[in-house]
Amino acid sequence: MTFTTQLRIPGPTPLPERIVRAMNRPMIDHRGPEFAAILSEITAGAKRVFKTGNDLLLLTSSGTGGLESAVANLVSPGDEVVVALCGNFGERFAALAAAYGADVARLEFDWGKPVEASELRGFLDQRPNARVVLLTHNETSTGLTNPLRELARVARDADRIVVVDGVSSISSIDIETDAWGIDVAVSGSQKGWMAPPGLALVSVSERAWEQQSKARSPRFYFDWKEAKTWAEKGMTPFTPAVPVAFALHEGLRMLEEEGLDHVYERHARLARATQAGLKALGFHLFAQDGYRSNTVTSALPPHGLDIAALRKLLDNKYGVVIAGGQGKMTGKMVRVGHLGAVAEGDVVQVIWAIEQALEELDIAPADGRGVAAVTASVQGVPATSR
Ligand SMILES: Cc1ncc(COP(=O)(O)O)c(C=O)c1O
Repeated sequence: MTFTTQLRIPGPTPLPERIVRAMNRPMIDHRGPEFAAILSEITAGAKRVFKTGNDLLLLTSSGTGGLESAVANLVSPGDEVVVALCGNFGERFAALAAAYGADVARLEFDWGKPVEASELRGFLDQRPNARVVLLTHNETSTGLTNPLRELARVARDADRIVVVDGVSSISSIDIETDAWGIDVAVSGSQKGWMAPPGLALVSVSERAWEQQSKARSPRFYFDWKEAKTWAEKGMTPFTPAVPVAFALHEGLRMLEEEGLDHVYERHARLARATQAGLKALGFHLFAQDGYRSNTVTSALPPHGLDIAALRKLLDNKYGVVIAGGQGKMTGKMVRVGHLGAVAEGDVVQVIWAIEQALEELDIAPADGRGVAAVTASVQGVPATSR
């Protein structure tokens, strides 16, 4: 029997009650003063999260729309563009650039491994004409966080425009957009922001604006100049996802009430607890140690476990929804999301449910070792000392 669903996928994330209530209200005029005030507060709050003094644009789209806006505004057909990738979302970024006619130079690493700064430096040295570099901060498909500070520094030192997919990291994992030299950073409302899908957040530096004025890709809905001009009047060029803006507004309040440093520390704690629980249950963590993500944990199953059967049982019997693998890892791994409105008890619940399911699927007896490992991790006891 289950009464609530535990949404443990890496986005969309669970909506806290406060956010559901903030959205549950009559519609307002998106060109009136109330929306202008909300837009202004979202912009100011998001800038604090991005740690940027640059422009912050709010676009009505999922995260991919924000990424597409970066390519449409910065790249001209035929331009060489460097994409550093180590997973499915990096692949998608490369495909996006190719769709706009870019000559894509791929710097590729094995899935589960990070992009290496030294390799990026050499790669850029050989490609002096590639003005734009596309990086993925948190590779959600493999549960890995790239060393963004180092990667951005290398790209910036080589005088490139640094574009970062921070869809599944920003607001859950620290980023210092300006200090790290990031020209464009993109996130999506349905991740750590605790809001539903529908709004993309995009920061744009002075250097990026300069590049934007020269780039010749066709653009209309995602034209940054339009977004900026209208934002200065307290509006968006087109009808925005108003209920999502209500939610994002409240989500930002919640992030600030908790304190960003506490938010980041909580995500780190939940990641460690999830890793400990899965390991105790016989899963093998997929991402390289030292680069494991604080927002999503990826793991290969114990021998003999059918992942589709596990996910079905978890959903049907325990109300726990976890993700599977993507791209070439489809059917081969599990991914457990722990970003946004997630606490220790939620990790206990998901690990407990997996442990029960493993017994039902005749993989291992449910003797409490998963939950014990989570508890020990939360209490700061290394699992090995028990
Ligand atoms: C790293 C990353 N990039 C891009 C996306 C795509 O975002 P959306 O599905 O909001 O378009 C996601 C979504 O999970 C993501 O995790």
